[in-house]
Amino acid sequence: MNLTVIDHPLTRHYLTVLRDRRTDPQQFRAAAKGLTYTLVFEATRRLPLEQFDIDTPMETTTGYRIDNVVIVPVLRAGLGMLDAVLEMIPDVKVGFAGVARDEGTARPQEYYSKLPDLSDTSVLICEPMLATGGSLSWAADKVKSSGANDITALCVVTAPDGVKRMYEDHPDVRIITAAHDRELNDDYYIVPGLGDMGDRLFGTL
Ligand code: URA
Repeated sequence: MNLTVIDHPLTRHYLTVLRDRRTDPQQFRAAAKGLTYTLVFEATRRLPLEQFDIDTPMETTTGYRIDNVVIVPVLRAGLGMLDAVLEMIPDVKVGFAGVARDEGTARPQEYYSKLPDLSDTSVLICEPMLATGGSLSWAADKVKSSGANDITALCVVTAPDGVKRMYEDHPDVRIITAAHDRELNDDYYIVPGLGDMGDRLFGTL
């Protein structure tokens, strides 16, 4: 299975803040940012590096540069991870994938997408809550149809259904998560989870 669960103490700390129902939107946004930093280290572990000569004050040595990374937050909850990725990898393009889930069926409904050409890029999709997997599978289809073939998904919490769906639809997509939770409830929310990520980020509860 292409799933990596990050168990770093900082990841667990921030995840606990996100899970806590008493956390207000401002604290929630800060914790989402802190947690995302810890995911980015793992997600970028295998990025290709451009190599070049640089002059230190002492002599010439080899330098490295990350190149051709595109971040794709899945709207709207993925926006809560975007700033942290941009701070760590500033020289990137950002594409957007807008999908709402039908509350009855949990099926993804596209409402907006804007992607650059993704050939020869490393794509980081920010999809915090991998519940049924419908939105992430849809986003992976979208980025592949724009040329992507190196795709990593950054998640805050995953559920078994979502991971299974991704394994069936897109076994090549690497998934990095802070927690792999027990199950979905009847409303397709992850439990124990953290509730509705978008509502908690933006105070629209
Ligand atoms: N989306 C969320 O925001 N939370 C869930 O638990 C599942 C999907």
